[in-house]
Amino acid sequence: MDVPERTRELFSEERSAEVVAASFADTPDPRLRQVLTSLVSHLHAFVKDVELTEDEWSAAVDFLTRTGQTCSDVRQEFILLSDVLGVSMLVETINHRTRGTSTESTVLGPFHLVESPPRALGDDINLDGKGTPCLVSGQVTGPDGEPLAGATIDVWQTNEDGFYDVQQPDVQPPGNLRGLFTADEHGRFRFRSVVPRYYPIPDDGPVGQLLAATNRHPNRPAHLHFIASAPGYRPVTTHVFVADSPYLDSDAVFGVKESLVRDVHVVDDPARAAEAGLANPFHALTFDLVLLRADRPPPEASR
Ligand code: BEZ
Ligand code: FE
Repeated sequence: MDVPERTRELFSEERSAEVVAASFADTPDPRLRQVLTSLVSHLHAFVKDVELTEDEWSAAVDFLTRTGQTCSDVRQEFILLSDVLGVSMLVETINHRTRGTSTESTVLGPFHLVESPPRALGDDINLDGKGTPCLVSGQVTGPDGEPLAGATIDVWQTNEDGFYDVQQPDVQPPGNLRGLFTADEHGRFRFRSVVPRYYPIPDDGPVGQLLAATNRHPNRPAHLHFIASAPGYRPVTTHVFVADSPYLDSDAVFGVKESLVRDVHVVDDPARAAEAGLANPFHALTFDLVLLRADRPPPEASR
């Protein structure tokens, strides 16, 4: 009887990663082959490093199963898991390097609406009038300081209790504390809002259990979300963080970058207050945004 020739190495503890990686050798897409080979190599190194027990492997499978089961049309527990493991921030940062030449990016988060309500410059996005009023203003420019007239600025934030409108449909009016603004001819924007508050990420699912089991809190420091874009420039998805907020150095999703932290000032200027439509004195936050040109290659990683 002919014995078929064996061309493949059999599985062994020592060479497990190489044996499994070899099974992907005929993957037609070279990028898929590279990603799977590297994934297997790191995954096997991890299992060997911690000598994973069968009970731990089962617990991990159960955790990932529950993570998937927690996902719905309005909740993405896998992204939240990626967020608390710092993977979302790493992917974001690798893919939006600035090397100090433009505004740094941070995570989008789950509370952005695909269509924010269009607003006019100077509008009040605090539709229910609660909280501490705050004038938010800034300028959108390109890397050489050129003002980006007509840039769009999409903003969203929590109310004074730390909730987005979509989390409190029976409490907040739809579109509260959100707006899509168009910058003026100097790239400037301004709107009235409230001083945001820190808040917890959704922590009633498997990700919350992971945080609890590791003595981590679920909070994010107070911030306003921004997506700034202009034709011919790379859009930036970012936040401005409030300088005196708790949790700046322990954001549950690692979103804070030093360059994004700003003071909220108290301004005592009756003329400016009247011009903004606010009682004097008032709180004010300034955040300028710099976009990279789309026709220039993005900065490389620093070595
Ligand atoms: C947020 O800032 O809206 C957010 C980001 C990541 C996870 C949860 C919330
Ligand atoms: Fe947020």
